[in-house]
Amino acid sequence: MGTRPLLNRRLDGLGTTIFAEMSALATATGSINLGQGFPDTDGPREIAQAAADAVLSGRGNQYPPGPGIPELRTAVAEHQQRFYGLTYDPDTEVLVTAGATEAIAAALLALLEPGDEVIAFEPFYDSYAACIAMAGATRVPLTLRRPTFRPDLDELRSLITPRTRLLLINTPHNPTGLVLTPAELATIAELAVEHDLLVIADEVYEHLVFSGAHHPIAALPGMRERTVSISSAGKTFSFTGWKVGWVTAAAPLVAAVRTAKQYLTYVSAGPFQYAVAEALRLPDSYFETFRTDLARKRDLLSDGLTAAGFEVFRPQGTYFITTDITPLGEKDGLEFCRSLPERCGVVAIPNVVFYDNTDAGRSLIRFTFCKRDDVLSEAVARLRQL
Ligand SMILES: Cc1ncc(COP(=O)(O)O)c(C=O)c1O
Repeated sequence: MGTRPLLNRRLDGLGTTIFAEMSALATATGSINLGQGFPDTDGPREIAQAAADAVLSGRGNQYPPGPGIPELRTAVAEHQQRFYGLTYDPDTEVLVTAGATEAIAAALLALLEPGDEVIAFEPFYDSYAACIAMAGATRVPLTLRRPTFRPDLDELRSLITPRTRLLLINTPHNPTGLVLTPAELATIAELAVEHDLLVIADEVYEHLVFSGAHHPIAALPGMRERTVSISSAGKTFSFTGWKVGWVTAAAPLVAAVRTAKQYLTYVSAGPFQYAVAEALRLPDSYFETFRTDLARKRDLLSDGLTAAGFEVFRPQGTYFITTDITPLGEKDGLEFCRSLPERCGVVAIPNVVFYDNTDAGRSLIRFTFCKRDDVLSEAVARLRQL
C-alpha cells in the first residue's frame, strides 16, 4: 500500500472518539459507566409504543421524505413557538436529521469554505473538531476557564478576523454545564451582526436548565437570518439510540444544510420520526418532571463527588458535571480516567480531549448523572474509596 497514510490529513489525530474508548473499557471491566451521556432508563412508554406502532403499521418503513416527515416538521415548528415564541415554516424552515450529530456535520459542510475560521467554545463537543476539519476549515477556540467557565467576550471579539465565517455555540454547554445568560447571548449576537457572521447554536440540552432558562440566540435582533439552531430528541426524551435531530433556520440556511444532508444520509429513522412528533407535543408536565428529576440527580452526584474529594463545578444545565481531580493529588485526567475502572469500577471522561489548549483541561474530568439514583449512589460509594 506504499508509505502514504490511509487516513487523510484532515482527519489525522482524530482517532477513536473518547466515548467509544471509555464505553468499551466500562464493558470490559464491568464498571459503572458515568462516561457517555446516555440514560439507563428509556423515555416515556407511550412514545416507545408510538414507534412500535409506526413500524407495525408500516409508517416510515420505506424512505420517508428527505426533509423529514411533515408531521415531525410541524411538531418541531410548534415546539419552537410553544417554548420560545419563534415562528418557523415547517415546509421550508425545518429539517429533520440523523441526530444533532448529522445536523452539525451537514451545517458545517454546507456553510464553510476551506480556509474559513470557526470560533467555538472550548472544551468542544468532539464532533465539532472533526466536522470543521472535514469541511477543510480551521477551528479557533475560545477557552472557557474554570471555575465559572463563563466566556470572555472581549477575547471573543479579539478572535474575530476577516476569515471568521461562523460562531459555533453550545448552550447549555457540554461538558461544563454552562448556560449562557441573555446578556452574554446579546453580546455574541451583536458581534455576529457587526461582523456578518453565521451562528450555529447547538441546543440539544435546551430542556435541561436548572438555574435560569434556555434562551435561543435565534430570537435576538438580526439573528433569525444568520442562525442555524440544532436540537435532538435523544437528550430531551431519553431515546439517544433513535438518532432523530432537527435544524430550524431561515429558508436559505435550511436549503443549504439540506443540500449537504441529502448526500450524508438522505433520510433516517422513518418510524421514530412519528414517535418524536408525538413526544414534542407532550404536556408541560413531562418537561418539568424531566428537569426536576435530573436536578435531583445532579445534586446527588455533585454532593457525592464533593464528599469523595473532587472539586465540583455544579452545572447550571445539561446532565454532566465537570470536576477537578487536583484535590485528590492527581494531575492528569486522561491517565486518571484510564485507571479509574481498575481502581474502583467507575468510568468518567477526561475533559482534556475536548481542548486545543490542553493545559486548561488537563486535570478536569466529566461525570454524567443521567443514571438511576441507585447507580449514582453506588458510583459515589466506589469513588469514596479512592
Ligand atoms: C453538545 C452535544 N451536541 C450534539 C450531541 C449529539 O446529539 P445526537 O445524539 O442527537 O446526535 C451531543 C451528544 O452527546 C452533545 O452533547
